[in-house]
Amino acid sequence: MRYAFVGLGHRAQMYVDALLGDWSDTGAIAALCDPNRTRLAYYLDRIGRRSRDRVPCFAPEEFGKMLELADAVVVATVDAAHARYVVAALDAGKDVVVEKPLCTTAADCAAIIEAAERSTGRLVVTFNYRYSPRNSAVRRLLAGGAIGEVTSVHFDWALDTIHGADYFRRWHRDKANSGGLLVHKATHHFDLVNWWLADAAASVYAQTSLRFYGAGNARARGLTGRPARARNAPGLGTDPFLLDLSADPRLKRLYLDAEHEDGYIRDQDVFGEGITIDDNMSVLVRYEGGALLTYSLNAHAPAEGYRAVFNGTAGRLELDVVERAWTPPHAAIDPTASGKEHAAGASERLVLHRHWHEPEEIEIGRGAGAHGGGDALLLNDVFRGPSDDPLARQAGYRAGVASVMIGVSADRSAATGAPVALTAGGTRWVDGDAG
Ligand SMILES: NC(=O)c1ccc[n+]([C@@H]2O[C@H](COP(=O)([O-])OP(=O)(O)OC[C@H]3O[C@@H](n4cnc5c(N)ncnc54)[C@H](O)[C@@H]3O)[C@@H](O)[C@H]2O)c1
Repeated sequence: MRYAFVGLGHRAQMYVDALLGDWSDTGAIAALCDPNRTRLAYYLDRIGRRSRDRVPCFAPEEFGKMLELADAVVVATVDAAHARYVVAALDAGKDVVVEKPLCTTAADCAAIIEAAERSTGRLVVTFNYRYSPRNSAVRRLLAGGAIGEVTSVHFDWALDTIHGADYFRRWHRDKANSGGLLVHKATHHFDLVNWWLADAAASVYAQTSLRFYGAGNARARGLTGRPARARNAPGLGTDPFLLDLSADPRLKRLYLDAEHEDGYIRDQDVFGEGITIDDNMSVLVRYEGGALLTYSLNAHAPAEGYRAVFNGTAGRLELDVVERAWTPPHAAIDPTASGKEHAAGASERLVLHRHWHEPEEIEIGRGAGAHGGGDALLLNDVFRGPSDDPLARQAGYRAGVASVMIGVSADRSAATGAPVALTAGGTRWVDGDAG
C-alpha cells in the first residue's frame, strides 16, 4: 500500500514511525501534505534517516494531485480540516485512516456519511482508547453479560493541568478549529460508551462553562500581568502554565522554528484572550436501548484519570483509573512527551459486583509497548487489517460520526438550553438540521 499523509504535526509521527519500523512490510510513505514547510522538513529528515525513498511534498491546494500517488491517506490535520480531506480521498476511491475526532460539525458528519456510502474506499477512525487493555476488558465483560442489561453509566473524566491546559495554548482553544472539548476530547469517551454498550444515543442534554482558563477567569481571581505567550516570558521555567518550546528539540523544530510561516503559536498563555472552548462540561444521554449516561469532563484537575461505573440488572462494574496522581508546581511539562503510563501514582482497578456475590477484582492484562500494548494492536488493525476481533475494535465512519454527533449535540444543547434528539443510530439530528 502507498500511504499519503496530510497533517504533519505531533500525531502523524506514530503512523510515520510505524511505516518506517515494525509495519514497514505493510506499505510505504508515498507523499506528504501540510501548509507548513518547516514541519514537512522535520518529517523528510525523519524519513531520510530510515529509508532511501524520496518522498514528494504537497501544499493543501495540491491534495488532489497527491492522491494520484497513493492508495490510502492518513489524515492528522487540525480537526476542522479533517472532513474536506476525508471526503476528497473517499471520492477518489482511496482508503482513509483518520484521527479522532472524525470531524467537528453535524454538516461534516452528513457529508462524510454520503461520501463513504458512494465510495469504494474504506474509512478507519483510529479510536486508540478502545485498544487500551482496561477499556477492552470492560467491553468483554459487558458483552458477556457480566452485569446483565446495562441500565446506566456514570463516566467522569479529569484532565490535569499538564494535559488539560495544553488545549488552551494552541489551536484547540478556538472552537472553530476543534469543535471544543466535547468534540475534540470527548469523542474518545462517547465512542467508548457507544462501543461498550453497543448502542447509539437517542437524546442529549448538556450544560458547560469556562471557569478556570481564559482572561476573564484569571482577572476575577486577581491573576494579572500574564504574558501573551511563554516564549521569553519572565516566569518561564517556574510557572507551571508556561510551556518552554525551546527546551525540547522536537517541540522546537515542529513549532517554534515553524511559526514564522503560519503564525501557529503553540505556547499561548492559557489565561489569555480569545478562548472560545469550555473547561467544565456535564452531559446527559439517553441511549436507544434505554440506558442513561451521565458524563462529565473537567480540564483543570490536579490529577488525571477517569472513573466509569456501569449499573446493570445483574450487578455493577466499576473501573477506576489514575493516569497521573499529581502535577508538580514547577515549569510546564510537555504533555505530548511525558508518558503517563509510568507517572507517579498511576493505577487502575476494575471491580465486578454481582447481586449476592462478594466483589471480584478483574485482572487487566497488558501487552508490550505503549498504552499497555494498545498502540501495537491499533497499528496492526490499521496497517495489516483487522483480525477476527471478537471485541470489534476497529471503527468505521458510522462509529466516528456517532461519537461526534453526541459532542455537537451536547454543544448545541448547552447553547440553546434544550435537549437534542438523534436518530439513525445516533448519526443524524431528528429535526433534520445539519448545522
Ligand atoms: N488519538 C489520540 O490520542 C490523538 C493524540 C493527539 C492528536 N490527535 C489528533 O491528531 C490530529 C493532529 O493533532 P496534533 O496534535 O498532531 O496537532 P499539530 O498541531 O501538532 O499538527 C497539526 C498539523 O496540521 C497541519 N494543518 C493545519 N491546517 C491544515 C490544513 N488546512 N491542511 C493540511 N494540514 C493542516 C498543521 O500545519 C500541523 O502540521 C488532531 O485531529 C488530533 O485530534 C489524536
